Amino acid sequence: MLRVAVCVSGGGTNLQAIIDALKSGKIRDAQIVRVISNNKNAYALTRAQNAGIEGVCVSPRDYENREKFNEALLECLKEADPDLIVLAGFMVAVPANVIEAYRGRIINIHPALIPSFCGKGYYGLHVHEKVLQRGAKVTGATVHFVDEDLDHGPILLQKAVEVREGDTPEVLQRRVMEEAEWILLPEAISLIAQGRVTIDGNGLTHIADTDQ
Ligand code: GRF
Repeated sequence: MLRVAVCVSGGGTNLQAIIDALKSGKIRDAQIVRVISNNKNAYALTRAQNAGIEGVCVSPRDYENREKFNEALLECLKEADPDLIVLAGFMVAVPANVIEAYRGRIINIHPALIPSFCGKGYYGLHVHEKVLQRGAKVTGATVHFVDEDLDHGPILLQKAVEVREGDTPEVLQRRVMEEAEWILLPEAISLIAQGRVTIDGNGLTHIADTDQ
């Protein structure tokens, strides 16, 4: 049974997609052992509670400096003893101590097709604003492993989403969530739970067939 910790900051629709996929059996052999939020008001914590999952807030505001927060976050993760950490709309740069402790075991969902529209400043609605400003005709979402550089680690899954005439950032964000994010993130967890994902020495991921 893959033990999954999910880190969130906001509404938690991606968390909900994971909870629903676990319930429906789309993800097997996995369980969410803890939801961690940096924001005590995140609706994601209510979603966790409604699903009977432990939710914990670790906020930078409650610590005197970043280092103390980083230690507390790592401690909170360690207590949950996860095999996999899923960043589902987690608006905190993952500290180096956490990356080090869980190398190759942290995945993130980014609402664009990496390496486009990613990196510094590309978060939340800004990603979709920039896609529209550039006039891109296709966007999407990417699930990738997390390393020290922002939106940079090995790519696991991607799905393209059409940009349509008249889209606003909000409309596009919603389409990217519905058509890509809420599908890809549960799929990624399922693949990892089945032991089908490997990362090679070149930082490329490989997904084994089910019969292997
Ligand atoms: C998603 O678009 C995710 O890709 C981004 O933040 C948003 C989180 O939404 N990083 P939610 O909290 O899962 O509803």
